[in-house]
Amino acid sequence: MTTPHTVRTVAVLGLGRMGAAIAARLAGQNWDVVGWTRSGRHVAGAVETTRDPEDAVAKADVALLALFDGQACRQVADRIHPALRPDTIVLNTSTIAPAEAAALARRLGPSYVHAPVLGSVPAVAAGTLRILAAGEQDALAGVQPLLRALGTVRPVDDAATAAALKLIANSSLAGAVLALRDALRQADALGLPRAQALDVLELGQLGGLVTRKRTFLADGAASTTAPGEFTIGALAKDMALLATASNSPLRSAADLAGTPADPEADIAVAATVPAVDDAVLEPLRRYIEGHATGDPAHFREAFLPTAHIEGIRDGAFASWRLDEYCGLFPGHPATDEPARTRRIDTVDVHGTVATATMTLRHGPDTFTDVFLLVRAEGRWRIANKAYHRTPRPAA
Ligand SMILES: NC(=O)c1ccc[n+]([C@@H]2O[C@H](COP(=O)([O-])OP(=O)(O)OC[C@H]3O[C@@H](n4cnc5c(N)ncnc54)[C@H](OP(=O)(O)O)[C@@H]3O)[C@@H](O)[C@H]2O)c1
Repeated sequence: MTTPHTVRTVAVLGLGRMGAAIAARLAGQNWDVVGWTRSGRHVAGAVETTRDPEDAVAKADVALLALFDGQACRQVADRIHPALRPDTIVLNTSTIAPAEAAALARRLGPSYVHAPVLGSVPAVAAGTLRILAAGEQDALAGVQPLLRALGTVRPVDDAATAAALKLIANSSLAGAVLALRDALRQADALGLPRAQALDVLELGQLGGLVTRKRTFLADGAASTTAPGEFTIGALAKDMALLATASNSPLRSAADLAGTPADPEADIAVAATVPAVDDAVLEPLRRYIEGHATGDPAHFREAFLPTAHIEGIRDGAFASWRLDEYCGLFPGHPATDEPARTRRIDTVDVHGTVATATMTLRHGPDTFTDVFLLVRAEGRWRIANKAYHRTPRPAA
């Protein structure tokens, strides 16, 4: 097995954002680096590249993978396996599923180190990545000097655990991006200037993210033209892997996958686009208007004519057709209308269908409305509504 002082030659396989930055950092720290990337595209900097991954690993002490996903890792590992020297360590920095990491560890044996990284391109350049490294003791010792050139190492028991921890770390990042998106949407709705909102958000819990990504978050061309460091597509991939691995619902998985922005854009761009197209909110606003005015014409605009409104009334299931529902409204506002409130809580769009929830406080009752919406003939309408009534608890 390779000992720490003999590791000098590194093959970096995958010269995307991270791979190119890692290759440049290692070359700058006097490692012998040879790079390969599937597309053969030119990579800026002084790193020597080869056409074939087999050539790249032939003389390498370490074959470092910086590839998009588990499938890419499997394909490249299969390809280089016969060309590896017996003492070459395969060091995988890619973010992949726990099961995929475990399968690679089984396939490559004691020379495999799974080492997903926390931090993006600037952290690579500065040598400040946080690296979750799992592997046999000898292999870990062999790659220590190289890992120290990239950042600090946090040993983890096994490859699957390292992969799972990395996905959990990215889950908090995804949550922060989506929380920032909500804050910026609300700031826009309140007419607050973007720069002022960002100044204040920088002081709070999302401060680190806002500071790091300010270029992308400010209004203007830079937000879409600056090269992305970590893409929406990569973070969406990670959230899908986490939801699948945990078999538990994960809001950010669906939210990021449905983000109306270029998947190649930086994750911060996801915070600057609306969560949902305004058009899907239109029937929900008409529905609110119907309640506020008591005018059923708004409900006929909001709902499809085939809609049903269903829930439990006086302990029994009740189902109204739209005509029956409209017949309940007198054509003028309720006498206590100034005291009534309504808010849209959630909207989730999946192509031509969507779900939404709303909370309405009408006198002593709180209603939770759950909507199914469909986009048909060019516009969104409510296909069905179910509701739950919570009466005010007795005093
Ligand atoms: N960017 C970040 O800030 C960051 C931070 C931490 C972890 N990560 C993780 O690090 C990994 C790399 O991220 P990145 O941002 O560098 O991604 P990237 O810019 O999209 O680069 C992906 C690389 O994977 C290669 N690739 C994709 N599919 C392949 C396949 N089937 N076979 C062979 N090569 C394939 C691409 O090759 P070609 O483009 O040459 O075709 C490219 O070199 C990902 O797992 C990502 O989740 C990224």
